[in-house]
Amino acid sequence: MSNPHTLTNALCRRLGIQVPIFGLAHSIEVAAAISRAGGLGVYAAARDGPNELAAKLRALRRLCPNHPVAVDLLLPTSLPGSNTRASVAAAVPPEHQKFVQGLFKRFGVPPATQGNFFSQYVRSQDLFEEQLEAVVQSDVQVFAAGVGTPPAVLARAKAAGQHTIALVGTPRHAEKAMAAGVDILVAQGYDAGGHTGQIGTFSLVPQIVACAGGRPVIAAGGIGAGAQVAASFALGAQGAWLGTLWLGTREHALPPALVAKLMAAGSEDTVITRAHSGKPCRVVRSAFSDAWAETGAPEPLDMPYQQALIGELLAAVEQHEVAPLLYEAAGQSIAWLTKIEPVAEVMARLVAQTEATLASMRAFPN
Ligand SMILES: Cc1cc2nc3c(=O)[nH]c(=O)nc-3n(C[C@H](O)[C@H](O)[C@H](O)COP(=O)(O)O)c2cc1C
Repeated sequence: MSNPHTLTNALCRRLGIQVPIFGLAHSIEVAAAISRAGGLGVYAAARDGPNELAAKLRALRRLCPNHPVAVDLLLPTSLPGSNTRASVAAAVPPEHQKFVQGLFKRFGVPPATQGNFFSQYVRSQDLFEEQLEAVVQSDVQVFAAGVGTPPAVLARAKAAGQHTIALVGTPRHAEKAMAAGVDILVAQGYDAGGHTGQIGTFSLVPQIVACAGGRPVIAAGGIGAGAQVAASFALGAQGAWLGTLWLGTREHALPPALVAKLMAAGSEDTVITRAHSGKPCRVVRSAFSDAWAETGAPEPLDMPYQQALIGELLAAVEQHEVAPLLYEAAGQSIAWLTKIEPVAEVMARLVAQTEATLASMRAFPN
């Protein structure tokens, strides 16, 4: 079958996609739409309990029966084997509990009557094992490890016939992931939304390309337009991996107050905070991140204690759409999130902009 895209490269052929644009979202609708539009949709499953994950992956396939899709898990190796929510919650210091109760009061947040991942689960190796089992039993073609690359995990994904991807923020992470057997690296820079390291995308990508031993590298962090996709190729990457841009897509259907906040924000309106998960995570600034940065606020706890501490609050804020406290992980690419659009339009624009940028670079100097 002929391929209409001029961007198709070796990595696309290897994965069976048309354009080397990778999109991660905590929404099967968004991930499916990205794959249907010719890129690779990556369903971020870290916020799914093991019971719902298998069904979610079947639904993802139904939405996207004819294109490859990927699934991403967070697998930090530092967490204990088993954790119950009660045992983790019991270890939360009273001072922290008082602070979070204060946030409920200050912002008039009614209690949650519906749970979400943050209020129902705590991260542990047992949870990761159950999530992983759902992933390797699924027919998803690509497995991505967001945080942590345990060799046994990569081996299981490979044995299930899945391509393996690891997100890395330093050359040292890349070495570890390669020693664990990973096929493809995502060099995710400081600019990125979500858990992030300290090296900016522009400095990181060529360093990861240099140590990748010929493995394909995909650039991530701060990419919101085709010029940056083209720049990724110039840095030696074979693709671009985006997270923030999809938050504004029609398929994501986030609460309107959150979308309005994301659309109003510029690159300077994201902050790195440990208050979300216990690990440094770039999020859109909100009354939540501001409160944790106030003088006198307690230091956020480590993972998974911070999640046990704030889970009920996050569930209540989500359920009741408490506008000041609503937030989401978001990168400096937020500057390009300016309107609600279908995924297909975002993809078409990224492809057209990338092609135009590459053409203008070919004409250089003029
Ligand atoms: C809302 C959101 C949630 C994210 N969740 C995950 C995740 O669960 N696993 C993961 O590997 N990366 C996650 N990331 C990071 C993305 O994989 C990606 O590296 C990042 O979004 C790239 O930078 P950008 O946000 O500027 O596009 C998330 C990013 C965002 C914006």
